Amino acid sequence: MIILGKQRIGILGMGTVATGFCKTYFMNKSIIDSKMDPSLEITKVLVKDIDKKRDVDLPHSIYVDDFDDFNLEEFEIIIELIGGVNPAFEYIKKSLESGCNVITANKELMAKRGSELLEIAKNNNVLIRYEASVGGGIPLISTINDAMVSNEIIRMMGILNGTTNYILTKMTKEKIGFETALTQAKELGFAEADPTADVDGFDASYKLAILSKDAFGVIPKPEEILKQGIRKISIEDIEYGLELGYKIKLLAIGEKSNEHVELSVEPTLIPIDHPVASVNNEYNALFIEGNSVGEIMLYGKGAGAMPTGSAVLSDAIDIIKKKKDYMGHVKAENIIVKNIGLSAYYVRMEVLDKPGVLGKIAVAFGDYGISLDSVVQRARGGRVAPLVFITHEIERAKLNDALNTIENKEYVTEIQSIIKVVK
Ligand SMILES: NC(=O)c1ccc[n+]([C@@H]2O[C@H](COP(=O)([O-])OP(=O)(O)OC[C@H]3O[C@@H](n4cnc5c(N)ncnc54)[C@H](OP(=O)(O)O)[C@@H]3O)[C@@H](O)[C@H]2O)c1
Repeated sequence: MIILGKQRIGILGMGTVATGFCKTYFMNKSIIDSKMDPSLEITKVLVKDIDKKRDVDLPHSIYVDDFDDFNLEEFEIIIELIGGVNPAFEYIKKSLESGCNVITANKELMAKRGSELLEIAKNNNVLIRYEASVGGGIPLISTINDAMVSNEIIRMMGILNGTTNYILTKMTKEKIGFETALTQAKELGFAEADPTADVDGFDASYKLAILSKDAFGVIPKPEEILKQGIRKISIEDIEYGLELGYKIKLLAIGEKSNEHVELSVEPTLIPIDHPVASVNNEYNALFIEGNSVGEIMLYGKGAGAMPTGSAVLSDAIDIIKKKKDYMGHVKAENIIVKNIGLSAYYVRMEVLDKPGVLGKIAVAFGDYGISLDSVVQRARGGRVAPLVFITHEIERAKLNDALNTIENKEYVTEIQSIIKVVK
């Protein structure tokens, strides 16, 4: 490895995050250099198009469009910011095997193949850091691994996707439907042209998978996380929720018991006065319950060039200053991922507008051991009327059984929504 009084850094990609990384470094260079020796030097950048105009002041000569042009022996750190699983996985693997430390912001890669990469890093005595992959500029991974290492984490609950939080905030405040809010989010650059990864919950579930590794020592397969997006959330649900004292948020929840971990990403009703309910627009937050510290919440921008770039830079400084692995949390070999879904639930249905229907439905729920916490009944003066319930805690499978029976009753025309409730 060549050490010239500087730590040589190679960057794969020069898009949004890489530009934010460079700008943060140049903006804060004197502070950063005063805190560590040796300092950083960006010596090579891989891009697709070397002639594209870039919003960052680096010499044109350092850009290449072929990964084989990287002489990996020369680098202390390779920063992967191209995104996607391939070819990012191969590039990171080769870098680790060549003795480079690696930093990535790639949640999809870390969720799907992170355990392989961590093993390769360990076998080659180098580090892989991924702070920016969850929560952008908010120090979630380092808080869990370092500041909270003396605690057992019992539960975490987060808003981990800014796009869906922006859409739900708009729907709640302006009483507009999902499609209108999505269009506005696209116009303002808060949603991609293809919003699937965000609105269908993939992005948040990748991030929850990464957090589960660090908080619980359990690395889930992507399909083990119960996942539901926000496309079906209607204005009616938002308004009934508010009337009952709740906001709807896309919550990523991880909860640990002795035998298993529950991991879910789904729209959830949360009390209006809960700190997580006050996280609006594109902001992210993670609410963590430790067995000693109690409840803490980390809040900030979960994406964007500068916040995410600053998290990548913190990883780089950490590698150079400490050169140690995270202590992490105990690897929980015998704990499995299992979603029982013991929770309260909100149920909205359409029923015949006749006397006695509410009582019959309460009895039908009772037959399955389900008791009701709150009910909203609206007479509309027509053939049908809406009926909204919040149940007491019940396993999701039991609720489904009850609703399968109730759906077939002649006085129920449609079950319209089932949403988890956090109390
Ligand atoms: N954007 C955010 O706010 C944010 C937040 C948290 C995490 N992340 C993660 O950070 C990573 C980077 O995101 P980004 O938004 O910065 O992406 P981006 O703006 O699309 O930039 C990607 C960069 O990688 C280069 N690239 C892509 N594929 C390549 C390939 N096969 N070979 C060589 N170069 C390639 C592109 O080159 P050209 O410029 O020549 O096209 C571009 O410079 C992703 O994993 C993303 O999930 C992003």
